[in-house]
Amino acid sequence: MRRAAKYTVPDSELSKQHGVKNAAGPVIDKPVLGIESSCDETGVAILRWVPDAPGEGLLAHVLYSQIKLHANYGGVVPELASRDHVRKLLPLVREALAQAGLKASDLGGVAYTAGPGLVGALLVGAAAGRALAWGLGVPALAVHHMEGHLLAPLLEADPPKPPFVALLVSGGHSLLVEVKKIGQYRILGDTLDDAAGEAFDKTAKLMGLPYPGGPALAKLAEQGTHGAFRFSRPMTDRPGLDFSFSGLKTQVLLAWQHSDQGEQTRTDIARGFEEAIVDTLLIKCRRALTATGTDKLVIAGGVGANRRLRAELAAAGEKDGFRTYFPRLAFCTDNGAMIALAGAIRLAHGQHQGESVQVRPRWNLEELPPAA
Ligand code: KG4
Ligand code: ZN
Repeated sequence: MRRAAKYTVPDSELSKQHGVKNAAGPVIDKPVLGIESSCDETGVAILRWVPDAPGEGLLAHVLYSQIKLHANYGGVVPELASRDHVRKLLPLVREALAQAGLKASDLGGVAYTAGPGLVGALLVGAAAGRALAWGLGVPALAVHHMEGHLLAPLLEADPPKPPFVALLVSGGHSLLVEVKKIGQYRILGDTLDDAAGEAFDKTAKLMGLPYPGGPALAKLAEQGTHGAFRFSRPMTDRPGLDFSFSGLKTQVLLAWQHSDQGEQTRTDIARGFEEAIVDTLLIKCRRALTATGTDKLVIAGGVGANRRLRAELAAAGEKDGFRTYFPRLAFCTDNGAMIALAGAIRLAHGQHQGESVQVRPRWNLEELPPAA
């Protein structure tokens, strides 16, 4: 695995000079502020850690999506994303505090996404989060964005307890993860090229759909005719749990180029494409559950909002005897609540960062320490 790049602002002596110290020890009963800014959504939430029912501890969550900003360019422009996080982050923090009926001084800790993601965008949230924590004299926690996604289903009623298998499907990742404990992750399968969400977005774009293409393509697919187009289920004809979705995109491109490019055709191709992705994910999930001897499957990440995927996995679970856990749609895509939760769990177990601001654009989930 390639070593992840680290962007670091060195530890300062300021806290010593000013006599401000991070609170030592676990953050148990105090609310934690969560900040998400890894890509094109600014998310802020406040959560108090309630071990058996984490959702009950969610006191506020607010989100600002940059979709309109990037739509003209057909995709996320990193520099514009960073600048917009700068504009929106602190107003959102104030809004979240107001929603929770709290003052900043009521916070017991601050959690922020430190990676993986766009370096400039990450630095905005990390610098603001670290500075806020320092100013308040409370501990800070750098959260792995995919751990945030993985834990999002815990915000729902009857949360899953490890061990379980997690399917994490977002714009940047397609991972099957064995979760023995919170923080103890083994990657069972990864994508060799495009992530599932990336495949949705690129396929939508090549058929002329506007950014963000994934949800638009999924909407179109709901009207498509089953069987009008059939694409392959990549890498399901051999053992293993890795994914590859870029060939599927090429198959769609060829089908689209050789078609009449009419509305109905686009809708039918969308359906065929979505069915291929959903089937592939389902086949690999079944394999992962068998390989690990687990009967709990957690699904999270932006593609986890896909209706067909949710329906097919839930139906397979009923048939095969495994249980599925999904976050609500708003917690599948990027949000601050999942970051507050991942941070609150680790802060509750006494973990926290040093004073430096560090972000990791690439960061392997397996490198994380166990949460407890
Ligand atoms: O988790 P997320 O919000 O951001 C990342 O961490 O990447 O995931 C965004 C991805 C995008 O690729 C988007 O097209 C995809 O999730 N997505 C969907 C749906 N909603 C979002 N893909 C398929 N069907 C959907 N309903
Ligand atoms: Zn994400």
